[in-house]
Amino acid sequence: ARPDALPRDLEGVHVAVSAGGTREPLDPVRFLGNRSSGRQGYALARVAAQRGARVTLVAAHTADLVAPAGVDVVRVGSALELRAAMHEVAATSDVIVMAAAVADFRPVTAVEHKIKKTERDPEPVALTRNPDILAELVAARRSGQVIVGFAAETGDDGTDVLEYGRAKLKRKGCDWLVVNAVGDGRAFEVEDNAGWLLSADGAETPIPHGSKARLASTLWDTVAPALGL
Ligand code: CTP
Ligand code: CA
Repeated sequence: ARPDALPRDLEGVHVAVSAGGTREPLDPVRFLGNRSSGRQGYALARVAAQRGARVTLVAAHTADLVAPAGVDVVRVGSALELRAAMHEVAATSDVIVMAAAVADFRPVTAVEHKIKKTERDPEPVALTRNPDILAELVAARRSGQVIVGFAAETGDDGTDVLEYGRAKLKRKGCDWLVVNAVGDGRAFEVEDNAGWLLSADGAETPIPHGSKARLASTLWDTVAPALGL
């Protein structure tokens, strides 16, 4: 849709969106990372701004994306940096969308100097859990604040994507969870997305196969009326 054809239903709303994928440093030149491009988070931020929101986009490793017009971008690297930035912006935001792919684990120590190869095999890399930022934001939620999570699921032999999504929504305690089916070239590093928008009240909206901008519009169509404006 043309920006001037969009509803202005997010005027007066401060939206915080995280986007991209965190990188967990091993040494000054190496990291553990993931395949998130940041495109879905950028689309959510762009559409929110077009609908009148004040938007803060917390972006992890999205250097090849163009910042959406009128959006404040805060750049972060690791999960711990993303966490600090999200807690800061959460203090003033009405809606939080956690679209970033946050590393579940980080190396216990990021060594100060570049790791050098020797004649022997390397030591295994010891990992530790990162904090669950979404769960922390839910625990610190301000009154009336709406929190949306994302889940990329492949499903497996025993459990399908939607079942994993429902369980994750309960576990995280957020208001909505966007569940994307991934694997086989779906969702990561591509323009399109498809899945479900699950609400804490039990409503389940299928998200048809379409662009990430389209998914963003579906999300804001659902969330805006719940903001009690
Ligand atoms: N998330 C987060 N902090 C983390 C991990 C995830 O805030 N340390 C957020 C993501 O931004 C996303 C949601 O939680 O909005 C779900 O992420 P996901 O990786 O699907 O969930 P996990 O709880 O990490 O479960 P899994 O074992 O399936 O990875
Ligand atoms: Ca995870």
